[in-house]
Amino acid sequence: MSKASAADTQHLSHGGLALDPIERASVDELRALQLERLRDTLIRAYENVPHYRHSFDAAGSNPYELKSLEDLARFPFTVKSDLRDNYPFAMFAVPRDQVVRIHASSGTTGKPTVVGYTASDIDNWANLVARSIRASGARRGDMVHISYGYGLFTGGLGAHYGAERLGLTVVPFGGGQTERQVQLISDFSPDIIMVTPSYMLAIADEFERQGIDPRSSSLRIGIFGAEPWTNEMRQEIENRLAIDAVDIYGLSEVMGPGVANECIETKDGPTIWEDHFYPEIIDPETGAVLPDGEFGELVFTSLTKQALPIVRYRTRDLTRLLPGTARTMRRMQKITGRSDDMMIVRGVNVFPSQIEELILKRPELSPHYVCELNKDGPLDALTVRVELKADAHADESAVLGAQTALAHAIKSYIGVSAIIKIETSGAIERSVGKAKRVIDKRPKSD
Ligand code: DLL
Repeated sequence: MSKASAADTQHLSHGGLALDPIERASVDELRALQLERLRDTLIRAYENVPHYRHSFDAAGSNPYELKSLEDLARFPFTVKSDLRDNYPFAMFAVPRDQVVRIHASSGTTGKPTVVGYTASDIDNWANLVARSIRASGARRGDMVHISYGYGLFTGGLGAHYGAERLGLTVVPFGGGQTERQVQLISDFSPDIIMVTPSYMLAIADEFERQGIDPRSSSLRIGIFGAEPWTNEMRQEIENRLAIDAVDIYGLSEVMGPGVANECIETKDGPTIWEDHFYPEIIDPETGAVLPDGEFGELVFTSLTKQALPIVRYRTRDLTRLLPGTARTMRRMQKITGRSDDMMIVRGVNVFPSQIEELILKRPELSPHYVCELNKDGPLDALTVRVELKADAHADESAVLGAQTALAHAIKSYIGVSAIIKIETSGAIERSVGKAKRVIDKRPKSD
């Protein structure tokens, strides 16, 4: 249930905000534009970035000979370590004085990944996030509360420029200070919030702690991303806050938020803004390109970026490409896992999202959870810590019932045995940005 139905927004022709002409282009027009832009990108990368010159030469891939979009498959992949090896600026294809912005992701090990933007890159980025916010159902005159972190992370500034470009009123809150977030949402009455889904839940908890029903807030739309979240989580958030919850996808190496965004009228997986990014799905083992509809690893090539053209970047995100619905551009199925997050428990591959789905099927359990991996002798042991809902019965038999039921569901649907620890409300650490769903406490074998 939401405060504004999808039909409403369609009737208002996207809230009085016009679509970009390319959003209405035919598939043929789109493919022609992609080919032209792809050729430019490959040549620009080859001529200006030593890394690409070497890797293309080593693979025998000649950017001047690209004849079709399919020819892209002959070019080598780019991976995160290529950016690290060229730290900080050697992947840039323009002189440093043309770079007007730098972002970086901290990463868990080693050096950060550094990305750069020219003025025209920032302009395109603002336009694409504006397009994303409009696809999410924004209307003229809306106010946007931004709780993505500002700074080196692309979330805050990316969202900010897009909302401003769309002509909306922006509240650049950033992450943290949850009590004040609630106060300003109550006092300013924003229509839209942009935040990670996990932090949205922490804000909803804080509303309740202050005795305010989160459903009574002014918010109409939430634009959630930066971490995997399931359709069950969407349902939970929509019910809890009486909003439409829409998925925004992106990654810093490819641009930041706004590489793809769901359309509110369909909510069927993010539409990839294909005029700026060319997607492929590959078999993560062999690197072979898979046909649309098959599951694999998502790979992106930028089509317009100047400072950091990126060729066949392996995202580690697992999904599949689907035909366009609300737009002609293709969609990606909502991402529910990254290969990095995959746990291998006694030989079985398990994604946190699979656990999340099962948790959210149980009405007494909250969406606050974490998966811990330990060793039980030589064997892997998976512990799922999950909180009871604040208003759930917390007596011993209720806790035992929830424990048994969840363990049973995990065993039968996923095929692994898990120890379930039911915790009281608030026991699991809240994140103000991306939630950490897996804590691996197993000793490293090497
Ligand atoms: O998280 C950019 C972003 C900011 C996207 C705000 C959306 C909103 P990175 O920190 O480089 O950039 O992390 C990128 O986050 O490869 C995915 O694994 C994950 N991710 C991002 N959006 C989604 C999403 C930003 N909607 C990595 N669903 C990506 C699932 C997502 N995972």
